[in-house]
Amino acid sequence: SSVKEVPIPGPRGVPILGNIYDIEPEVPANSFELLAENYGHIFRLTTFGKPRVFISSHELVDEVCDEERFTKIVSAGLHEIRNGVHDGLFTANYPGEENWAVAHRVLVPAFGPLMIRGMFDEMYDIATQLVMKWARQGPTAPIGVTDDFTRLTLDSIALCAMGTRFNSFYHDEMHSFVEAMVGLLAGSGTRARRPGLINSLPTSENNKYWTDIEYLRNLAQELVDNRKENPVEKKDLLNALILGRDPQTGQGLSDDSIVNNMITFLIAGHETTSGMLSFLFYYLLKNPSAYKKAQEEVDRVIGKRKIVVEDMSKLPYITAVMRETLRLNPTAPMIAVHPHPDKNKEDPVTLGGGKYVLHPDETIALMLGKMQRDPKVYGPDADSFKPERMLDEHFDKLPKNAWKPFGNGMRGCIGRPFAWQEVLLIVAMLLQNFNFELDNPSYDLRIKQTLTIKPKDFQMKATLRHDLD
Ligand code: HEM
Repeated sequence: SSVKEVPIPGPRGVPILGNIYDIEPEVPANSFELLAENYGHIFRLTTFGKPRVFISSHELVDEVCDEERFTKIVSAGLHEIRNGVHDGLFTANYPGEENWAVAHRVLVPAFGPLMIRGMFDEMYDIATQLVMKWARQGPTAPIGVTDDFTRLTLDSIALCAMGTRFNSFYHDEMHSFVEAMVGLLAGSGTRARRPGLINSLPTSENNKYWTDIEYLRNLAQELVDNRKENPVEKKDLLNALILGRDPQTGQGLSDDSIVNNMITFLIAGHETTSGMLSFLFYYLLKNPSAYKKAQEEVDRVIGKRKIVVEDMSKLPYITAVMRETLRLNPTAPMIAVHPHPDKNKEDPVTLGGGKYVLHPDETIALMLGKMQRDPKVYGPDADSFKPERMLDEHFDKLPKNAWKPFGNGMRGCIGRPFAWQEVLLIVAMLLQNFNFELDNPSYDLRIKQTLTIKPKDFQMKATLRHDLD
């Protein structure tokens, strides 16, 4: 072709370990940002002999979102999580693992608008518990924002997907299921940063990892058995897992697949959503005029009455605040693709219209947060929090693939409508009932990273606006 090949830049590594010293283990996202600033919208890192390309411009991300050329790859931490949930939706290698397609067809209807509306009352129930807790704590108590939002999102996904109450607002220590799940997630993160040999040794750390997994799976199976023995007529995710049938083959999910996906919903559904809520309140508190508009919208549309599911479509400004929050800080900050094993016939595979040549089957990491601040799309104020730019009339006109916090195409987030309703409801309810302020007015955003990102050490205070009924 006429396009001139350009070498992909990147820092020189050390022998064997490659670039691991270029990645800060606490918050890898910070290192990737820095590298993107130094090397540009495409750079390469090699760790343990495995090269990976990182991209952060809209143009390149748009190119790899073409599902005819590229498809999701389950790598690094996500690959380790497979130890716990096998070929569940989030961790399945598809094409290749047919269980993904079956579970996808069975579960897509479970996340349809009608079903999500059906879960409103249970979300409302848990949301009320958070309001009660903050009301009782009074206006001077600093709130550990991220911890309490995690209690909320965990309890609400557990109620909807497992038919069980964790009652996290009534205990300081975590429910044993959550403890084991955190063990799986933290262990998977650590394992992804270590050579495989160390992961296979019978150390107490490795033993705990596998014990946690066994505990999670047994408890999940018990909850499935319990619902099967005591059926309830309810539109929730647990019933969808048990009763759903594949429209194509008529088959239901195996017990193994039900357990994989039940745990998957908890893993994929709680931290992403609680991180989003935490960032959202951070941005509102740092942007008083946006805060005021959001609260005025709640007062105008809902006032003091009980929030109902019909209100969810009547809050355009808060919707824009949610979109803008996920633009600046997508809580699942990175997704990964590789050349489609069946469809991509290009050899060698290239990016940038032939400019950048990839290694065979090289992983491409999409830096969503940086891409969503691309000044070519969002202008010179791309780093500022401006919900107005996300009102429907602008949002609908964004270039394709310029806002991707829920991932791409058929491997995009199945839980998006669930998360959206949950966040809208709790934001509306909190603004309706409280006035918030930062605990420390000079707090500036710092990031804590696990599989997802969230604000670190972010605390606020909540004053009731009126008596609770
Ligand atoms: C997939 C983000 C909430 C379940 C994804 C992906 C992203 C994402 C980026 C693609 C991952 C990849 O390409 O590797 C988010 C964000 C959320 C959220 C930002 C909240 C603000 C939820 C909730 C659930 C959920 C509440 C469950 C109730 C899933 C599942 C997948 C997924 C099962 C895998 C889909 C598949 O490959 O078939 N999510 N998610 N997510 N998410 Fe979410």
